[in-house]
Amino acid sequence: MADSWEALEKECLACRECSLWETRKNVVFGVGSRDAEVLFIGEGPGANEDEQGEPFVGRAGKLLDDMLAIIGLRRESVYIANIVKCRPPENRDPLGVEQDACIGYLRRQTALLRPKIIVCLGRISAMKIIREDFRITREHGQWFEKAGVLMTATFHPAYLLRDPRKRPESFDDLKALQAKIREVCEHTPVD
Ligand code: URA
Repeated sequence: MADSWEALEKECLACRECSLWETRKNVVFGVGSRDAEVLFIGEGPGANEDEQGEPFVGRAGKLLDDMLAIIGLRRESVYIANIVKCRPPENRDPLGVEQDACIGYLRRQTALLRPKIIVCLGRISAMKIIREDFRITREHGQWFEKAGVLMTATFHPAYLLRDPRKRPESFDDLKALQAKIREVCEHTPVD
């Protein structure tokens, strides 16, 4: 049977495929337009996201909104999801087994969405989506293609909060993203 957003979300919200379900308050499925052409992929929910059931709603989320605004995007015109849908305790990186248990949901989200562009936010996301040995400091802002989908990675907003010196580089990545959206997207407004 064909997959649907409704079936996928229902399954995901009841998931117990790894031990993160034991400590979660909410599954953080994803947010945005379900016919978005651009998919942003973070790492996993933090405390605020776990509380509210929505990705990127804490300080890093505020910065992500600002980053989107720089190139005329709003969260309603893109889709935002994470590699893992439940909060890893103490905000540690998601373990390999947790990522492997969860990645099927993101794959199905991607298959339903059929984005033209995927933007990985940070190292963990880029290593899972683009290449296992991806080096974010060296390869951010570069473009890759997989199965007809254009992909890039930029610094995670939480990292930019810790190290604002990286912001000029992330600005360049955003401008390149804006140019790519203009080139390949049909209904994604950018200023
Ligand atoms: N960091 C992430 O990677 N994802 C979120 O949803 C929030 C913070």
